[in-house]
Formats: sequence, structure tokens, C-alpha cells
Amino acid sequence: MRKQIAAANWKMNCNLQEAQELLNALGRKNIALKAHQQVVIAVPFPFLITAREMMADQLSFFIAAQNCYSKEAGAFTGEVSAAMIASCRATHVIIGHSERRQYFQETNEELATKTDIALKHQLIPIFCCGEDLSVREKNSQNDFVAGQIRESLFHLDAAAIAKVVIAYEPIWAIGTGKTATAVQAQEMHFHIRQVIEEKYGQEVASQISILYGGSVKGENAAEIFSQTDVDGGLVGGASLKADEFEKVINGLKG
Ligand code: PGA
Repeated sequence: MRKQIAAANWKMNCNLQEAQELLNALGRKNIALKAHQQVVIAVPFPFLITAREMMADQLSFFIAAQNCYSKEAGAFTGEVSAAMIASCRATHVIIGHSERRQYFQETNEELATKTDIALKHQLIPIFCCGEDLSVREKNSQNDFVAGQIRESLFHLDAAAIAKVVIAYEPIWAIGTGKTATAVQAQEMHFHIRQVIEEKYGQEVASQISILYGGSVKGENAAEIFSQTDVDGGLVGGASLKADEFEKVINGLKG
């Protein structure tokens, strides 16, 4: 089976002590994961090393950064490189979250470069895509999301794109309590897989984990994740409480 992933996106929340408490609480739960299931925790940069050390015993728990810069190194005050993230033994990095696109003007073109630099440093990109409400109201979401994927990922060769995790996050569902229905999620995930298949073939398309994000919580995770092309979730608010996130993890396909 494709990897089924429960990914936490803490965003800009928690101080160090709160982060340690949350990680401790998760660690104490001794969550048993099957071979095809993974948990990824995307923490703020200052907590990468602590998180990696605290989760060292949890072999299926991976640590992610929430962003990286598009340049290798140099005079870019305040930015964090993919090499730095990898050296902290994080294994994943979120690329192109809608909040980065909206508040930091990240473009599809820049995200293509970020994806390259992440892969160069052996980080797995969790590439985010998704439409806002105005696009959905025009029923143009399929073209819109296909465009984001084509412009940021289609320069990759088959071996490289097969390493990418895609997160479909409709902006109208992020932090709003409005979740896409399981049917809406499945429709878009199927579409994304088709778009990839048209360029890279069925074998590559079938390997890529496509996560759903947008108001996933304990009570709706299992239903959304049960859809054929939904391979887990990228979870914001509900990942900040260990009990709630445990329920999300338990919703992964068994
Ligand atoms: P949410 O955020 O679960 O709080 O809606 C998801 C995300 O933005 O990744």
C-alpha cells in the first residue's frame, strides 16, 4: 500500500516548553503504526532538534520543517536553508503552504526551486496546493490545482516526483471548521493523480501519497482518509492537542 501519513502542521504555535509537553504527551501514547503508516510533525524551526531528539524512539515518527528558502546559502538574513534543516535530521519540509503563498507572496515558480533544493538535500517535500473559495465557486478548482502542480513539479523527472508528498488543502477549509466532504476530497485527489499519470504514467502516479488538509480532526479523519485516493492528512489546529491528533492518526487506513 502507498504510505498513509498523518502530518501535523503546528504553524507558528507553542513556545519551547509547550512544544516539549505536546511531544511528550504524544510519545506517552505509544501509538502503534503499521509498516505503511507514518506520522510527520512539522514544527517551527527552533524546535527541530528538540523534536527529533524527543521522538528518537518512535521509528515511524518523522520531523519536518514548515518552509525552507529557495537559495543554497549566503547573505539572506533570517532565512533557513534546506541544508540546515537536513543537518538537524528533519526528513521532510512543507513547501508552498497557502499561508506562505498568501502572506509571503510565494509563487509557483519559486516553489519549483524550493522543491529542487529540498530534494537535493534529501528532504521529502510536502507540496501544498489548493484553491480559494472564488475558484471553487467558479468550479475551476481542477484546472487551478493542476496548474499549481504543473508549474511547480512537472520539471522533475519520474524518480524525483515519486519522492514528493502532495497535500491538497482547499483554502476555504483551512482553519475555518468547514471541511471538504469526503466526496469532494476524493474527486480532487483522483484528479491530481490523473494529472500526474498523464505525464509520468500509472506506476509513478500510484506511488505518490496525496494528503488532504483543511479542518481535519478526530471525528472526521477516518471518513476522509477512507477514500481511495486520500492517503492521510495535513492537520493544523487538531495537531496541537495530543488526544485529538492521536484520533487523527488512528483514522489512517489500516
Ligand atoms: P487546519 O490547517 O487543520 O487548522 O485547517 C491545516 C493546514 O493549514 O495545514
